[in-house]
Amino acid sequence: MRVLKLILAVLFIAVPLTAFAAEKKANSIDDLAKMYDVSSCKTCHAKIFEEWEKSYHATSLVGSPRTMATIASAVKDGMMKEWTKSGIKKIEDIKVEHMMSCLKCHLPQIKDATDAVAQEIAKAAIDGAAGDEAAQAKLKKVGINCLVCHNQKALIHKWTDGEPEANVIYGNKEGAHADAKFKAMKKSPIMKESILCGQCHGLGPNFDLTEPTQCATLYGSYLHAYVPAGGNKTCQECHMDKGHFMPGYRDPDQAKKAVTVEVDSTGYYFLPKAGDSIPTAKVTVKMMNKAGHRIPDG
Ligand code: HEC
Ligand code: HEC
Ligand code: HEC
Ligand code: HEC
Ligand code: HEC
Repeated sequence: MRVLKLILAVLFIAVPLTAFAAEKKANSIDDLAKMYDVSSCKTCHAKIFEEWEKSYHATSLVGSPRTMATIASAVKDGMMKEWTKSGIKKIEDIKVEHMMSCLKCHLPQIKDATDAVAQEIAKAAIDGAAGDEAAQAKLKKVGINCLVCHNQKALIHKWTDGEPEANVIYGNKEGAHADAKFKAMKKSPIMKESILCGQCHGLGPNFDLTEPTQCATLYGSYLHAYVPAGGNKTCQECHMDKGHFMPGYRDPDQAKKAVTVEVDSTGYYFLPKAGDSIPTAKVTVKMMNKAGHRIPDG
């Protein structure tokens, strides 16, 4: 009996207290949106909020909207067809674990939701990709928002720093914070480090998953090519000059920063035989990738 008690006590202590552990799991997309609600942030951080709203992070289940379409085909062609050993025949068989293949990075707060939410997202992606606007609007209710970077993903080394605490905003300093729910501010050791972004921007295949997938991989390229070649900028330094918009190539200013082009040309005539002349030019173009990683990604 005493042994059993001891085991139970140990088990209890070992269960990590995550930021949202006190609340019960979200049972619908609406519940999850409420749990990770960031509407209050807009009052005081209006500019940041507007930049973020325009970013792909804000709508990470829809994207360009290639993401929504690709999630739909991952469900229809992958889970329900090719993954014959997944046990999935219909939407109702889908669990959070299956949707992690995409949502591990596209919606990490899914860890705080039930299988019903995984099924709702799968269905909305299929309907949304088929043109259903209500389904698209539903998917846009959740995304990589303030609380994902400033709470859930703000601490990596849990044995060193512990789990992110509920009602705390992690940034670059400690102190009180004016928000009604998030009343304290704590320093995240990684807020200025590339590893914050690397958690989702990928090293390579996701070998941690039962059915590995591969999507974004540029953190691997950053770590193993850019840094060893002497690169010394962080993701934040190159991607946050427009604040929280964090653009990639679709922003012309960001695209312009990516390459240098040197053109060297010589014009001359090519004479196959006396009297003939073909105007000819020799053009040497040197292009160099100045981004902090391979492009394109994925
Ligand atoms: C009532 C106004 C108010 C609201 C609401 C509010 N904030 Fe803040 N926030 C502030 C102020 C003021 C500071 C600066 C505090 C300081 O510098 O001491 C701050 C600081 C921060 C910082 C830290 C910045 C740093 O220097 O590292 C982050 C991150 C942040 N807020 C995020 C949020 C998020 C996310 C929300 C919504 C959940 C939110 N805030 C809601 C007023 C607000
Ligand atoms: C929680 C996971 C996560 C974190 C953390 C994260 N990202 Fe992203 N990021 C994504 C996902 C997912 C997308 C793609 C969304 C879509 O279009 O479907 C994305 C898109 C982007 C894009 C492409 C935007 C475009 O307009 O093409 C850039 C650039 C980017 N992120 C930079 C960053 C930087 C810099 C950081 C760190 C400060 C960061 N991200 C942190 C998941 C994340
Ligand atoms: C390791 C984290 C990770 C996983 C797992 C992941 N993605 Fe991504 N995905 C990202 C990031 C980060 C981006 C943005 C980077 C970029 O655009 O280069 C992205 C971009 C995309 C894009 C292009 C963005 C756009 O708006 O056009 C699509 C499509 C996409 N992901 C679909 C999926 C699907 C479907 C799955 C599951 C089968 C998946 N991803 C799994 C991290 C991931
Ligand atoms: C993809 C990750 C990501 C998301 C999403 C995100 N932030 Fe940030 N935020 C950062 C990073 C990284 C920094 C630190 C930049 C630095 O110090 O170089 C930062 C800095 C800040 C700061 C302090 C610096 C400043 O610019 O004033 C505030 C305040 C802030 N964020 C609020 C917000 C709010 C509010 C939201 C949601 C609307 C949000 N953040 C969403 C990553 C994110
Ligand atoms: C030296 C500056 C620099 C650094 C460091 C850097 N980037 Fe970039 N990144 C760029 C530029 C410039 C582009 C635009 C490339 C283009 O036009 O295709 C870009 C493009 C991207 C894209 C879009 C690529 C695509 O094909 O969709 C993503 C996502 C991205 N960066 C994320 C990151 C992340 C995450 C980090 C840190 C691990 C990082 N970047 C580090 C400069 C940088």
